[in-house]
Amino acid sequence: MTTQRQSIHGQWSSRWMYILAATGAAVGLGNIWKFPYLTGEHGGSAFVLVYLLCVALLGIPMMMAEVMLGRRGRQNPVNTMRTLAKEANTSRHWQLIGLAGTLAGVLILSYYSVIGGWTLAYAFRSGTGAFNGATAEQASSLFSQFVGEPLGVLGWHTLFMVMTMVVVARGVRYGLERAVKYLMPALFILLVVLVGYATTTGYFLEGLAFMFAPDFSKLTGTSMLAAMGQAFFSLSLGMGTIMIYGSYVPQEISIARTSIVIALADTLIAILAGIAIFPIVFANGLEPKAAGPGLIFETLPVAFAQMPGGHLIGVLFFVLLMVAAWTSSISLIEPAVTVLVENFGMTRLKASWLSGLTTWALGFGTIFSFNVWADYRLFQKNFFELLDFLTANIMLPLGGLFLAIFAGWLMAKEASQPEFAMRTTLGFQIWHLLIRYIAPVAMLMIFFVAVGLL
Ligand code: PFF
Repeated sequence: MTTQRQSIHGQWSSRWMYILAATGAAVGLGNIWKFPYLTGEHGGSAFVLVYLLCVALLGIPMMMAEVMLGRRGRQNPVNTMRTLAKEANTSRHWQLIGLAGTLAGVLILSYYSVIGGWTLAYAFRSGTGAFNGATAEQASSLFSQFVGEPLGVLGWHTLFMVMTMVVVARGVRYGLERAVKYLMPALFILLVVLVGYATTTGYFLEGLAFMFAPDFSKLTGTSMLAAMGQAFFSLSLGMGTIMIYGSYVPQEISIARTSIVIALADTLIAILAGIAIFPIVFANGLEPKAAGPGLIFETLPVAFAQMPGGHLIGVLFFVLLMVAAWTSSISLIEPAVTVLVENFGMTRLKASWLSGLTTWALGFGTIFSFNVWADYRLFQKNFFELLDFLTANIMLPLGGLFLAIFAGWLMAKEASQPEFAMRTTLGFQIWHLLIRYIAPVAMLMIFFVAVGLL
């Protein structure tokens, strides 16, 4: 028996729109600044193989679980968990998991948006030739100067937040769908153009070799855990965004098949990002610095500055990053907006501005972490690092753990199975086994590694 609930926020107008939106949520900064580097460091294609295994055994089953919960509840993550807990005759406190996920979205967005602002600034600065002729030291000092000056960054963060909230305020059909309909193809085209460019650098094969040459000796236990954590973060699991997107999925759409497509698209884009980035880095005699801001905002601008026509490539690259961050940002705030609408009776417009303003203000903490608050530290971490640690290393893995327990152990098979509507029961049984046994153990391991206990 399937439920008759309807989301008051509407539905995706097609399977394709849902796939674009969920892929947009998943593809973010993590795909572009973390995956390529992890792959290079942990044994190339050996790591990619392990990563694919993690996506198959953990990522896809968890995504299926979250979409299934969302679609069955058809409300925001808090109300969905409360409704489903009641249906499962268990404690209504499960709604706290929905609340924690919603909060995690706001906290992540508060720093994601600051970095989104950096990408806007860097797209602009690449266009105006600010990095022309810059050496590695100059690019590093330009970056330190840029983040060291709070007012400028605040302006870009504000612009990025406004771009996010304008989309979210317009709702599922007219906001989210319209945005991803243009942004996701644009993202793909930009990436293909950059890969095309990488083939002309003369270092394409070196780049490929760094990414893919299999080196099983580098594949340690740590790298397997890194693959697991990255698969989980990259697919935006454990925090209610996939659940809320699931609540807009029409009943006739196959959860299993769409989850596979989304996970593969996310992985493909991460791999393409590496294929585009490393040849450009090597062609300019640079080292692939640590993942993250160093590679993107210090190493790459130097590479762009040295190449003929490089500032155009620089603009394209930072616009690509901006688009990836933008479509993820939309998904990060959507749970909070729907909580304000459903539980506090606000209009979507009001809910969007209120949650947007709150997130924007929280972003000050991240902006100040690079200047006026740089010396305030707790556990040796500044505000930004603490926030990142709290969300990515604690809230997401624990959120995922509880969601797996709920979907695998508390929810009756009679409730979950019809949602998947698979043709054979074998598919369902495999999912159930993975979500019951593999997912909770994997989530616990990710958590222990993340907090340094393993
Ligand atoms: N999946 C995004 C990335 O790879 O950058 C990060 C992210 C976005 C995590 C949205 C969680 C989320 F809800």
